[in-house]
Parts: sequence; structure tokens; C-alpha cells
Amino acid sequence: MSNNDAPNARRTALVVVSHHRPDSLTAHIGNRTVRQLESEGYAVDLLDLNAEGYDPRMTVADQPDWGDRDKVYSADTEAQMRRILAADIVVVAFPVYWMGPPALLKGWIDRVWNYGFAYGRSKPRLAGKRILWLALAGATADDDIVPAMTEALDAQLSAGIAYYCGFSDSRVGLLPDAEERPQRLDAEGNLSIGDAIAGDAKAAHFLEFEAKAAGFVEEFLASDRVPA
Ligand SMILES: Cc1cc2nc3c(=O)[nH]c(=O)nc-3n(C[C@H](O)[C@H](O)[C@H](O)COP(=O)(O)O)c2cc1C
Repeated sequence: MSNNDAPNARRTALVVVSHHRPDSLTAHIGNRTVRQLESEGYAVDLLDLNAEGYDPRMTVADQPDWGDRDKVYSADTEAQMRRILAADIVVVAFPVYWMGPPALLKGWIDRVWNYGFAYGRSKPRLAGKRILWLALAGATADDDIVPAMTEALDAQLSAGIAYYCGFSDSRVGLLPDAEERPQRLDAEGNLSIGDAIAGDAKAAHFLEFEAKAAGFVEEFLASDRVPA
């Protein structure tokens, strides 16, 4: 039974932050998301992978055994699994690296979203959960790469991972313009780095950025609300 099924139960969220710098924009967006979810009444578990010293390297203990879907994985992985199980919804904040998640986050998925737990059963244990991927990208919003980036992230994270693991809803909130020095790839493939924005323009830029992230979260939460 999920938390949602119990009358008056407090809904639960797992917020995963994948960044190596606590002062990064990614961490900032992750922390804001925690506050936003709490103000919506969620009990939030913040999993800051870097702060918790998460090791993304696959290990023998966490490698699937295709002959045993009831394999008991490493203690760390089993503990991570319990954190996912306890959550009605999952929100992940990460920087886009090469059109995909950074290695830290990818390794967490590889090791924890494992055979017998996340997939490989007629009813996966993650079935019915919902997930939002907040993907911060250095590209500017008007960069020609943005539609392809959105498609690539959606194919990998939603179709390839979340729906494969039984999530009932997975959406990618792409947040371009994550850099204060705009990055653009020109027709010849050169990366041009623009001037850093500063002062009021910078404050306005990041306010808009935060509002966009908050909007993705709001939309995600609203889509689960049953109309009165
Ligand atoms: C290894 C690496 C790969 C990157 N790949 C992409 C990319 O494919 N597309 C993109 O828009 N930005 C890319 N970026 C830029 C990051 O997405 C951007 O720096 C980050 O989202 C900024 O947020 P932060 O300050 O929290 O790190 C890349 C950056 C690094 C370091």
C-alpha cells in the first residue's frame, strides 16, 4: 500500500540532488524544491548524493543476478531502495552532462534501481510512483540543440528508465540557461561563450530560472490532484 492509499496520511517525497558543489545552481534548485514540497504538505527526504559520499561505481554485490530476482544487494543499496520505497513521488535535480545525467546520478540508478526491485517482476515495487527530472542545461533556451536534448532526456529517463520500472508518470523539466555566461554552438561547431550577465539582469535571469523550476514542480503536483 502506498502512503496515498491511507486516509489522511502525509504524502512523501524523495528529492535527489546530484552535484559535486553545495553552492551550485543545481543544489540551490534542489533545496528550493524541498521547501516547495514541504509547503505543499509533503514529508521530504533529501538525498544529496555528493554530501552523503555516494559512490556511483557498480560493485559485484550490486550487480544483478539474472537467476535470482530476490538477491539481497549491498547494505547501502538496500538502504537506498528503502528510501525510494518510502516516497510517493521522486524529484531529481541534476546538471545535464553530454545530453544525459551526470555519472554520480547514473551510478545511483545503475546500482539502486536494480533487478527484482525496480524491474523484473510482473508488478515492480516502484509501480505507481511518479517522478520529475529537473535537468539544468548550460545551453541557452534558443539553442537549436534544445529540442533534441529534451527528446534525448525523455527517451533515456522516462521511456528507458522510469516507465521500464513501472512509474506511472515521468516527466523531464528541462531548464536551459543555467549558466551566467550564455553558451551557444555555432554552425561550424564552435562553442561561443558570451559575456557574463551581472547586476539586475543577473538577478532577473535567475529569478526567472527559479520560477520555471517551481512551475515544473507545481504542474507535476497538480497533475496528481483529484478534482473536488
Ligand atoms: C561534463 C559536462 C557536460 C555538459 N554537457 C552539457 C550538455 O550536453 N548540454 C548542455 O546544455 N549543457 C551541458 N553542460 C553544462 C551544464 O549543464 C551546466 O554547466 C550546468 O547545468 C550548470 O549548473 P550548475 O551550476 O549547477 O553546475 C555540461 C557541463 C559539463 C561539465
